[in-house]
Amino acid sequence: MLIKTIEEVRALVREWKKQGCSIGFVPTMGALHEGHLSLLKQAVAENDRVIASVFVNPTQFGPNEDYASYPRDIQTDYSLCQSAGVDAVFHPEPEELYLPNRATTVHVTGLTDVLCGAKRPGHFDGVCLVLSKLFSIVNPDRAYFGQKDAQQVAVVRRMVRDLNFGVDVIASPIVREAGGLARSSRNAYLSAEEKAAALVLNRSLSRALQAMQSGERSADLIRRQVADQIAAEPLARIDYVEVVDFEDLRPVQGPMTRPVLVAVAVFFGTTRLIDNVVFGPELEVR
Ligand code: PAF
Repeated sequence: MLIKTIEEVRALVREWKKQGCSIGFVPTMGALHEGHLSLLKQAVAENDRVIASVFVNPTQFGPNEDYASYPRDIQTDYSLCQSAGVDAVFHPEPEELYLPNRATTVHVTGLTDVLCGAKRPGHFDGVCLVLSKLFSIVNPDRAYFGQKDAQQVAVVRRMVRDLNFGVDVIASPIVREAGGLARSSRNAYLSAEEKAAALVLNRSLSRALQAMQSGERSADLIRRQVADQIAAEPLARIDYVEVVDFEDLRPVQGPMTRPVLVAVAVFFGTTRLIDNVVFGPELEVR
């Protein structure tokens, strides 16, 4: 079922809750790929009812970003959701979600000043605003996010905790194409040469993971090794390479003693890709 209004979502969810159903929610901006499909399938497997949203959220794009050109194809997205077993797709118009005189912002401090947040001012405020609205409309038991956007997961977890949304935030592993490139809607913008060059991201991060699994604990060394390998690729232009604390996203100084996130953002032509690995020095690798 394709739903356009907040009222219809609320009525449907009310009905499901009356029946005692657990509700999984997968928020997306559409242009669904294998990564989204694995989130949808996981949600379908773990909940009685699943609702997905397809909404290109204007408030999380900067003035010079690709809001206008972001790929939109609701019919294809809707069919993919149906084939994954999703019960309802919420696809509102921007005016349905955003009132002209809105005056409320949602800002998670600290975690949003680093990594992508430092490069995309206001981006996570837009993500948190739209998710606050969607969580309050859908009122799900569980919400599913891709671990590829590791900072988004950390920020959403903190917001959900701080604002008592009562939603279980579930992060699903990164889905990769053959060759290792992390699935992203933005991969469609890459030329064949850029796509081949972008394999350096997974290659360098996998080596970092191996090094950490073999006992390397110097965050500086890991950061330098990943940056050097990426910089050796002529089509790559590094935006950032960071080793940060998995939970609060602060840069790790000195030896690693807690789980870390090794995160990169790299331009290939005009397309900016992100990727990451997580490592728990107490031997747990996620
Ligand atoms: O990850 C995304 O696609 C978006 O940031 C999200 C979570 C759907 C919010 O618009």
